[in-house]
Amino acid sequence: MAPSITRQKNHARSGRRPVRAAWIACALAVATAPTARAADDTLKPRHAPAQAWSFNGALGQFDLASVQRGYAVFAGVCASCHGLAQVHFSDLTGMGLKAEDVLALAAAWQVPDGPNAQGQLQRRNGRPDDALASPYWGPAAAKAANGGVVPPDLSRIVTVYPGGADRIYALLTGYAPGTPQTGHDFANPYAIGHSTAMPPPLHDGAVHYADGTQPTVQQQARDVTTFLAWVSAPHQDMRRRVGVGAALYLCFLALLFVILKRRIWSDVRK
Ligand code: HEC
Repeated sequence: MAPSITRQKNHARSGRRPVRAAWIACALAVATAPTARAADDTLKPRHAPAQAWSFNGALGQFDLASVQRGYAVFAGVCASCHGLAQVHFSDLTGMGLKAEDVLALAAAWQVPDGPNAQGQLQRRNGRPDDALASPYWGPAAAKAANGGVVPPDLSRIVTVYPGGADRIYALLTGYAPGTPQTGHDFANPYAIGHSTAMPPPLHDGAVHYADGTQPTVQQQARDVTTFLAWVSAPHQDMRRRVGVGAALYLCFLALLFVILKRRIWSDVRK
C-alpha cells in the first residue's frame, strides 16, 4: 500500500501552475536560443585544435630543450611587451640551466630600477633575484604603447587562459599570412571577438636557436608555449614523479596486506 500513497501525495503537490510555468520557460528558451547563439558565434573564439604536448597526460614531462628554446623566444620577442612578474631569474635553473648561465641571462636583461637622485627613472642589469617584470614603467605607459590595452602578465597564462596551451599556440600561429604590423586591431579567429590588439609577434627566423633547430613560426610558437606552460607549473614534473612513486608504493602495500591477511586467517580455515 505504501507506494500508492506516496504517489498520490506527489500528484497532489504538483499542481497545474508549475507545469504551465515550465512550458512557458521552455517556449521562451526555444524562441530566444537562435538569436543568442548567433550573437555568441561571432564573438566566440574558434576551437583550437589539440596539439601533442610533451607535458600533457598523467605521465607527461616537460621537454626541457623546448622550454629553453621557448625562453629564447620569450626574451627575444615577447619580453618587449609582456612581463613574467611571478618568475625570478633564479627560477630558470629549473629548466636545466646552471647557476652561472642564469647569472649571464639576468645580466643581459635591463630591469627597471626606479628613480635616481635626480628623479630620473633608471634601468640596471638584472640579478638572479630579480623578477622578469613588465618592460613598461606602469600600466599607463603599457596602455599608451599598445592602443589602450595592457599586455597581460604571462606568468600563469597557460593555466588561466581558456583553451590553455592549445589556444595560445593557435593564437600565435593564427594570423593570416601578410597581416600588417601597424595599428592595434588585428584579425585572429582564436581571439575573443576574432580581434586582438597584439600585432603578429612571430616571424620565421626572428630568433636564433643555439641547438640548431629551425626557428619557423610554428616551432617558435610551440617552444614559447611550452616555456609558458612550464612557467605556469614549474613543479609539475616533480609532482608527477612523486605521484608515480606513491602509486607504486600503494600497490606494494596492498600486496603486502593481501599476503598478511592470508597468513593471519590461514589457521581459521584449517
Ligand atoms: C608589440 C607588443 C607585443 C608583443 C611583442 C607580444 N604581445 Fe602578446 N599581447 C600584446 C597585447 C597588447 C595583448 C592584449 C591583446 C588584447 O587584449 O586585445 C597581448 C595578449 C597576449 C595574450 C593573451 C591573448 C588574449 O586573447 O587575451 C597572449 C597569450 C600573448 N599576448 C602571448 C604573447 C607571446 C607568447 C608573445 C611572444 C611570442 C607575445 N605575446 C608578444 C602585445 C604584445
